[in-house]
Amino acid sequence: MRSAFGKMKTAFLLAVTALILAGCGKENLTALVPKGVGAQKSMDLIILTTAVMTLVFLIVIILFVVVLVRYRRKKGQEDYIPEQVEGNKTLEIVWTVIPIILVLVMAVPTVVYTFELADDSKAKDHINIDVKGNQYWWHFDYKGEKIQTSQDLYIPTGEKVYVHLLSNDVTHSFWIPSISGKLDVNPENENTMYIEANEEGVYWGKCAEFCGPSHSLMDFKVVAVSPDKYKQWVKDMQNFDPKKFKPDTQVAQEGQKLFEEKSCIACHAIGPSPVATGPNLTDFGNREKYAGILEPTKENLVKWIVDPEKEKPGNKMTGKYPKVTEEEAGKIAEYLMQLKPSSVTPETVSK
Ligand code: CUA
Repeated sequence: MRSAFGKMKTAFLLAVTALILAGCGKENLTALVPKGVGAQKSMDLIILTTAVMTLVFLIVIILFVVVLVRYRRKKGQEDYIPEQVEGNKTLEIVWTVIPIILVLVMAVPTVVYTFELADDSKAKDHINIDVKGNQYWWHFDYKGEKIQTSQDLYIPTGEKVYVHLLSNDVTHSFWIPSISGKLDVNPENENTMYIEANEEGVYWGKCAEFCGPSHSLMDFKVVAVSPDKYKQWVKDMQNFDPKKFKPDTQVAQEGQKLFEEKSCIACHAIGPSPVATGPNLTDFGNREKYAGILEPTKENLVKWIVDPEKEKPGNKMTGKYPKVTEEEAGKIAEYLMQLKPSSVTPETVSK
């Protein structure tokens, strides 16, 4: 019985996974192939509830067919009225109690898991990251580490990382399908949960709450690396001094100047900053994607700098700086692409 159920479960999972992967074609963006503690718990609940609902469905269908066949009107019995049964206490109790038990079977583990994932009483013993949701990007501030990044969130594998979620504008929702469940990111109150990746990988994060015209483009990446690599990354990020950084080509050096002249620096910080209003660009050259969605090529970056509105409608960068020509954007792009403070990057992750 158990092995038959196991086979059914595997077949079901494979079918659904294939369907979903075929639909979006995105690796590491599915709750059905869990790579983290929270996602595994979600998967367990998905299996449990699907099993309970399938059982109920089968019983109802079988009863329905049996009654349909056995009690259908037969020839020569057109006027026959069978015995009328109503108010049967035993039956009433049976079909009231069974659903209550089934609901409890699904509700109790769901509530237990939900509270367990949101329990932050031991947060101080672990890594804590302030996550800020913005239309349409994510900011990560590593508490007490003097490290800030945007869009790419580095975490060590096998360790609890507490994310403290708050929004700078409207309500967003923080979701890394392969690693954990989702949680609202509100402007008025902080929500906390922990995420824990089981193995190295670059995992897709999404905003899961409609938040404006570019909601579906509010992507980010979680770069889960071994604890050793993570330590290296933290060290590299802390040792990086943006004031001393000098790009190694003439073009990129001109880009560095333009970055100030075109007032990019008014919103974007390189190195940690308490006041910057735009995405932090400290490790921009290592980003897995540009602006969260574009393949990391110079061509794409130039397109983005010249006309961000075209790539991400409704974003807050549009119109915030003087016009930049394609040539100037190319220089700024050269500069930004050289910002690689750490040797630990999405490419060094073992997949
Ligand atoms: Cu932020 Cu949808």
